[in-house]
Amino acid sequence: MKQTTPPKTYRVKSFGCQMNVYDGERMAELLAEKGITPAPEGEDADLVVLNTCHIREKAAEKVYSDIGRIAKAGEEAGKKPLIAVAGCVAQAEGEEIMARAPAVSMVVGPQAYHRLPAMLDRAVKGERATDTDMPANAKFAELPQRRKSAPSAFLTIQEGCDKFCTYCVVPYTRGAEISRPFVELVEEAKRLVAAGAKEITLLGQNVSAWSGENERGHRVGLAGLVAELAKDPDLARIRYTTSHPADMDEDIIEAHGSIAKLMPYLHLPVQSGSDRVLKAMNRSHTAESYLKLLERFRAARPDLALSGDFIVGFPGETEAEFEDTLKIVDEVRYAAAFSFKYSPRPGTPAATMDGQVAPEVMDERLQRLQAALRRDQMAFNEASVGKTCQVLVERRGKKPGQWLGKSPWLQSVWFEGDALIGDLVQAELLEAGQNSLAARLREGALA
Ligand code: 5AD
Ligand code: SF4
Repeated sequence: MKQTTPPKTYRVKSFGCQMNVYDGERMAELLAEKGITPAPEGEDADLVVLNTCHIREKAAEKVYSDIGRIAKAGEEAGKKPLIAVAGCVAQAEGEEIMARAPAVSMVVGPQAYHRLPAMLDRAVKGERATDTDMPANAKFAELPQRRKSAPSAFLTIQEGCDKFCTYCVVPYTRGAEISRPFVELVEEAKRLVAAGAKEITLLGQNVSAWSGENERGHRVGLAGLVAELAKDPDLARIRYTTSHPADMDEDIIEAHGSIAKLMPYLHLPVQSGSDRVLKAMNRSHTAESYLKLLERFRAARPDLALSGDFIVGFPGETEAEFEDTLKIVDEVRYAAAFSFKYSPRPGTPAATMDGQVAPEVMDERLQRLQAALRRDQMAFNEASVGKTCQVLVERRGKKPGQWLGKSPWLQSVWFEGDALIGDLVQAELLEAGQNSLAARLREGALA
């Protein structure tokens, strides 16, 4: 690689989960500290960071086509953009990326991105570097302080996973479970609120496993952290994601009943409705124990909206076992959901299991499952019509005077009228669509 001029503009493209969105924002802050500015919309950037996802094969393959496209666009414009690959593909396939994609000069894993500025200095000199070290928690202390925030902000409180579901790469790419310290999180939340956040979503691959010590030296879990953050009068809403059914304790169930700022929404993946499949997935819950857990949550917070993740076509899944998944969907009536075809991931136990399901069978099952999930989402949205609720205004809509925000149940809501980004308004829900609701501002709408 030849020496290049230091980049003036950057673009961070994040794929996959919300934690990648958080990491992407933090990388952008690091680059901003170096005086590099975001590339204007529609213009090529001098430095592109691809913050990648390795959870399914399709997501991982996308990286190589993106690298090709960026390099080609650069060539056509007579420029050579610097390309960094970050995120979970970087962690899992660092050396392979370097070998396969000469246009890439930096590969940096999710635990090492605080060192991106130093790598960039080397890249400008023409060196290529890979950093996939996994020092627990080290990056957070070295990241710049939060200065700007959207009304709805993410805050990573926990990373990694010790659950080892047999299909999942996360325990390998994000490493062992670690919790960020209580005091550090309270501090970062305060800064986010001072920077404009009205809502904070606490993030972790296994967020319900978060544990820490409060300032009095007492051990607290997720519910204790939520209670502490809720004390900030300028923070209106708290959410958390993603949880594992095995780690949901009485405290967090109770918190949904007693902490008004904890929004009535729970993302609790079940993956399958078949006990045989759940066991083969190493999920440590059954369909029944999952349903019982939801009953306790619903008793604490009757208007709780539920969301889940599903995998169809796990190795050995029979038609009858797939129908058990449809049954659990019928029982729960999810307000929202994410569903995927099983994708074998290198190095995971399920990838070498017998009975890999044919792609056309997976396609057909996914279609049936998604039809059921769409039906329930529509029904949930329709049941909301007529309610007046608080909406956090997050952005402008397409038409002038139109605004978009989120209901407490994480539905997208749009309305016309006088508002500002970051306002909490009262709106009456008028009409339901599959993915959003139309609403009308109420008199004295500021909530
Ligand atoms: N194939 C398909 N879906 C997967 N997920 C995780 N690993 C795989 C895989 N190998 C899904 C799970 C998880 C969500 C984040 O992605 O449903 O909850
Ligand atoms: Fe992956 Fe979630 Fe299972 Fe952890 S709990 S191994 S992140 S699916």
